[in-house]
Amino acid sequence: MNPRIQDWSGRRVWVIGASSGIGAACARQLLRLGARVALSARDAAALEREASASTHALAAPLDVTDHASALRARDAVVAAWGGIDLVLVVAGGYNEMRADSFDLAAANRLIDLNLRGVFNCLDAALPVLLGQGAGGVGIVASVAGYGGLPKALVYGPTKAALINLTESLFLDLRPRGIAVYQINPGFVDTPLTAKNDFHMPALMSAEDAAAEMIAGIERGQFQIHFPKRFTNSMRLARLLPYRLYFWLIHKVTGL
Ligand SMILES: NC(=O)c1ccc[n+]([C@@H]2O[C@H](COP(=O)([O-])OP(=O)(O)OC[C@H]3O[C@@H](n4cnc5c(N)ncnc54)[C@H](OP(=O)(O)O)[C@@H]3O)[C@@H](O)[C@H]2O)c1
Repeated sequence: MNPRIQDWSGRRVWVIGASSGIGAACARQLLRLGARVALSARDAAALEREASASTHALAAPLDVTDHASALRARDAVVAAWGGIDLVLVVAGGYNEMRADSFDLAAANRLIDLNLRGVFNCLDAALPVLLGQGAGGVGIVASVAGYGGLPKALVYGPTKAALINLTESLFLDLRPRGIAVYQINPGFVDTPLTAKNDFHMPALMSAEDAAAEMIAGIERGQFQIHFPKRFTNSMRLARLLPYRLYFWLIHKVTGL
């Protein structure tokens, strides 16, 4: 659905959320493959540490909830490279929340990060991509966006919105020569999941998740989801009638 990528040499990739977890692993692997990688996140020291290990890397700190900082980081990347071939918006957070512990302030903070933050990044990236009439944008959503889940009262809706957003982006951008990737990981072992107190089925490493992401992009897939043994069952579950879906989720999660 998107063009295949056979060679990463010299490709200019902007990874937003590159200081830890899936984004950091992605940045490292892309550098090993020969790409030029701009690393963005809030933790400037972590980005500098990663970037100092490669002449192909540059640190462009930003806070995705701060629109002006996203524009500044974009300007720094474009000034260094003259354009961007791929933007990966990986940054995001997770808050366990259920209806009986609803916290509006925490909900709004997560929406600012996971949803408005992505729009801030898009506002920075789209003029560059559209101006080039080439390149691509990938957004990391989650299988938690496929259907309602316990403990994901706010996280789930933000990720469902990102799934919808990538669909609209694909319709708008593919005819303009721009690739769009919807990336839906299952459970990945990162600081984000470290606080989970429940069994995470098919938990995978950040390195394996990044490798799956990159392989999917190379194949030109629109929807990239992994690990398949878990994500395929979530994709099937979303097709069930609600009576069955709710029964299944109660049974599997015990919640
Ligand atoms: N781990 C999983 O099981 C899993 C499953 C499905 C989807 N995902 C999604 O995958 C993405 C990456 O998660 P991860 O598991 O790799 O978590 P992680 O290790 O906590 O990484 C999150 C990244 O986002 C950055 N970030 C957080 N807030 C930011 C902000 N305001 N501005 C800029 N960057 C910010 C962090 O950097 P700084 O703190 O330095 O800013 C970090 O680089 C998230 O969107 C998450 O929802 C994860």
